Amino acid sequence: MNKRIKSAKYLSNFESIFKCPVCNSSMKVFQLKSLICLNNHTFDFAKQGYINLTVHPVKTKYGKDLFEARRKLIIEYGFFKPLSQAIAETISKHTVNKETISLIDMGCGEGSHLSQISDIVNSEYSKIVTGVGIDLSKEGVSVAAKNYFDKIWAVADLANTPFADKQFDVILNILSPSNYTEFNRLLKAEGLVIKIVPQSGYLKELREVIFDEPEKQSYSNADIVKRFNENIQLVDRSSLCYTVELDNPGIQTLIQMTPLSWATAEEQFKTLLKADSTKVTVDLEILIAKKE
Ligand SMILES: C[S@@+](CC[C@H](N)C(=O)[O-])C[C@H]1O[C@@H](n2cnc3c(N)ncnc32)[C@H](O)[C@@H]1O
Ligand SMILES: [Zn+2]
Repeated sequence: MNKRIKSAKYLSNFESIFKCPVCNSSMKVFQLKSLICLNNHTFDFAKQGYINLTVHPVKTKYGKDLFEARRKLIIEYGFFKPLSQAIAETISKHTVNKETISLIDMGCGEGSHLSQISDIVNSEYSKIVTGVGIDLSKEGVSVAAKNYFDKIWAVADLANTPFADKQFDVILNILSPSNYTEFNRLLKAEGLVIKIVPQSGYLKELREVIFDEPEKQSYSNADIVKRFNENIQLVDRSSLCYTVELDNPGIQTLIQMTPLSWATAEEQFKTLLKADSTKVTVDLEILIAKKE
């Protein structure tokens, strides 16, 4: 069975969570080829196994190389392992009475966070997880669908999502933009938002190479946290800071995996690229909100 048919079959078990991004009517899988609404707006499954539910084609700056590099750091170097563990623990703590959880990662990139977190929630906390990942970047979603089958992967805008109201127990939003109106609409009663934002030391070893100005060498998340607080009910926040040792190929991968490098000439990374190894700081804040 090819990937397109396999994912259409899988998604047909969950077709009731969708709504048409054009006219808001309900949707059904049609001939294991497309997702189609009551008014015949039709969205085809891609051969890689994802579905594109954007209304207008969108070109993003996030390309395949960035996502492949992110995937390599996550899978081969365990770059975000403590984060996955902390998020899985948070989900378990806030969903004690639930055996089954619907989880959506909004801005999922290449999908490894959603996959790892779902696996931990399942294996360590014995909950069944239905996972959905959406991202505006087709390149990211395509890498996700290629590597992880048992999830729903869609190219979609998190500011106008193709899902019916109150479909999810948990929304993940990791190092990505937010849309609180959509978050509130999509959450079930007592649903949870887990938003991950960088803290001052996040990738500071890279920032020190890229920026001359000391104020840019450290990062402030104050505006993001303020906006989160104004839009959704913050119930808990915690910090997670650790370092990861990267060898030389790992350093090259780190430079490729972050938008921080976009406006930087390769020349600036010269010294870093010559190092045999380096420690890199991952400094994050975990914001948790419950639906009002
Ligand atoms: C820094 S990346 C983080 C990706 C992933 N969460 C991770 O940590 O590896 C930010 C992501 O947000 C996505 N993004 C930006 N605007 C978006 C939107 N309006 N809807 C969906 N995704 C969006 C980008 O395509 C990109 O994949
Ligand atoms: Zn429609």
